Amino acid sequence: MEGTAGRITDAPAYQTIGSCEVEIPAPCCIVIFGASGDLAKKKLMPALYRLFKNKLIPEEFFVLGAARTEMDDGRFRESMQGAVQKELPGEFDHSLWPEFSERLYYASLDYTVPESFVGSLKKRLPPLEKKYLTRGNRIFYLAVPPEVFEPVIFNLDRAGMSREGNGYTRIVIEKPFGWDLDSAKKLNSVLGRCFDEEQIFRIDHYLAKETVQSILMFRFANSIFEPLWNRRYIDHVQITVAESLGIEQRAGYYERAGIVRDMFQNHMLQLLALTAMEPPVAFEADRVRDEKVKVLQSIRPFPLERLGEYVAIGQYGSGLIDGRTVAGYREEAGVAGASATPTFAAMRMMIDNWRWNGVPFYLRSGKRLSSRRTEISIHFKQTPHLMFAKDIPGPIDPNVLVLRVQPDEGIGLIFQTKKPGSRICLNPASMDFSYEADIQLDAYEWVLLECMTGDHMLFLRQDGVEMTWSLLTPVIEKLESATGPRQFPNYAAGAAGPREAALLIERDGRRWRPL
Ligand code: BG6
Repeated sequence: MEGTAGRITDAPAYQTIGSCEVEIPAPCCIVIFGASGDLAKKKLMPALYRLFKNKLIPEEFFVLGAARTEMDDGRFRESMQGAVQKELPGEFDHSLWPEFSERLYYASLDYTVPESFVGSLKKRLPPLEKKYLTRGNRIFYLAVPPEVFEPVIFNLDRAGMSREGNGYTRIVIEKPFGWDLDSAKKLNSVLGRCFDEEQIFRIDHYLAKETVQSILMFRFANSIFEPLWNRRYIDHVQITVAESLGIEQRAGYYERAGIVRDMFQNHMLQLLALTAMEPPVAFEADRVRDEKVKVLQSIRPFPLERLGEYVAIGQYGSGLIDGRTVAGYREEAGVAGASATPTFAAMRMMIDNWRWNGVPFYLRSGKRLSSRRTEISIHFKQTPHLMFAKDIPGPIDPNVLVLRVQPDEGIGLIFQTKKPGSRICLNPASMDFSYEADIQLDAYEWVLLECMTGDHMLFLRQDGVEMTWSLLTPVIEKLESATGPRQFPNYAAGAAGPREAALLIERDGRRWRPL
């Protein structure tokens, strides 16, 4: 990596990373609410450290961590050092750490007490801003449990910190963005009272994954795929986000959320929207988000009286992952013994528009599955006539285009070739592109950079969030009222999901791609 980083000028500076130029944002400070929590330790601080190390953020920046825990700057720095070393073992540079960590500060505060915001933040920020020349640019990052979103937003406003001052003021909200349509609307209205939409950055970290960002480039920067990208050539689409991990230490959240809120309302529907949307008129945040919202609006509402034909859910029991026996969901610490929370779901969605009429989109996601894999596969139609029918009995496997999001990031096109030596014998082959070492920035590094440069492309807009909730809230309610503890567990850890999920697609004469 070569440095071209000019630091405090008004024209944007760039840094070369891999073979791309990345814009270095203007100076700013980041206030992380929930700085003593897991997200800050596992994702935010390592991402900031890497950005700093790679000179992708200016030296004129500092972090003010804010949380309930009592601690001074020294202890905060120590704890962040431990976290960064743990997350980035091969990349931690002892000689650089003091330079980074002197920019880390901490304020303990009570999220629900307005005076606390004045004492801990409002008075604390200006001298630091002066010291680090951050030009009044402020990012408030809410890495807190959703119950405290509202008090933090209100108290920032009451303390007079929500509006733009000399520089910009932005607020970043982590998921879950509401629990259903009503709560999402309420949260949007609270935000809207205190901040302008331009100041709000709602995160879906999937949008910031390099391979997810590349879906639009792949679709709209190549002329050979887009003409085929419709109901005339595509039989169906599968979107899979499979995890082999369980719920880890997040029972408190997960018991309330379940897989549909945790993965479908956000990541899965965003993947669907990027796959199915029309080309935007320009590659600009609002034009892209307009098209995504249009696709979400076109998804056919689920027929609740026949939900079983469209949705299958499951919960893992104990089983084997990598040869090791793991506990079932109900045995995880903090989970109720008779919990009916689903840890797996598969859905069949129809998009009612010209492009996709009659093409099912099958989505599945689950915890403790046999492997970790996120991919979008486009399954093309069978050839219209089988001229080899005399020699090759049965159908020929149709072409499949696989966009591999993680791991093993890349793109593969499966097609038939002739097996050498035989007269007529087909052999499926794959043309494969792999990103391998090209991926330089992880999702949280992108999230932070894009928020600092003020680009909303990777963030959700209010209408998009409400659209996904209005589609899924009735489904969640129906599932919650109809699911009893006796249904679960219905798949073993290490399996590909419950039998009901296989049936969902097999009823249509199709099969899931193997995990
Ligand atoms: C989070 C979910 O949003 O995404 C987690 O809350 C899930 O349950 C995670 O494990 C998956 O993200 P990734 O980046 O590991 O695929």
